[in-house]
Amino acid sequence: MESSTPVIVAIDGPSGTGKSSTSKAVAAQLGLSYLDTGAQYRAITWWMVTNGIDTADPSAIAAAAGKPEILSGTDPEKPAITVDGFDVAGPIREQDVTSKVSAVSAVPEVRTRITELQRSIAASAVTGIVVEGRDIGTTVLPDADLKIFLTASPEARAARRSGELKGADLHATREALVKRDAADSSRKTSPLAKADDAVEVDTTDLTLQQVIECVVTLVEEKRADR
Ligand code: DC
Repeated sequence: MESSTPVIVAIDGPSGTGKSSTSKAVAAQLGLSYLDTGAQYRAITWWMVTNGIDTADPSAIAAAAGKPEILSGTDPEKPAITVDGFDVAGPIREQDVTSKVSAVSAVPEVRTRITELQRSIAASAVTGIVVEGRDIGTTVLPDADLKIFLTASPEARAARRSGELKGADLHATREALVKRDAADSSRKTSPLAKADDAVEVDTTDLTLQQVIECVVTLVEEKRADR
């Protein structure tokens, strides 16, 4: 492979492992595009909620899965997401969407639709792309040049997440995270999982800067190898 060939990096793992911050920083440092696939699942969930679709009814979700038009920006310095032309970057982080996204993202028709979108975005990245999610290395981009699986203890993940949510209750945050991970890991279609050929990085005792440096080094080694 020539060194000018785009480099595809898949970063998977549960929430609170530093996936988004790491992926954005690595992409920015290396001049690569960036895709937050969780934001796409949140965007389709936001559309279902806004349009009165019963998110507890998989057949209703499946029937509507093709309707919203979801556009993702891929600049790591200013990630953007719109649904039918509306900027939903703020609303998709709200509690109502967060509590329903596991149910919506478990529906196979939703996954097929969003996976196609992700593959076409990755295929059009000129220098390469860092794609973060839950099933990128296993399902979306199984031929990625580098696969990273980030982990951290539930305590560390809850502490980081409640910090981001400006002092949310630690115990409640931990419970909600564990519940969402269990749902994401146990669903039938492309669950949260580590690919056999992924490099696992436990971030529990690492600073964000250390995780970023570790991943940048791994990408540079891959590029040097080819
Ligand atoms: O990374 P996040 O917390 O924004 O992701 C929101 C939800 O989207 C997560 O609970 C599971 C789902 N998701 C998924 O099923 N597959 C992905 N590749 C990314 C996210």
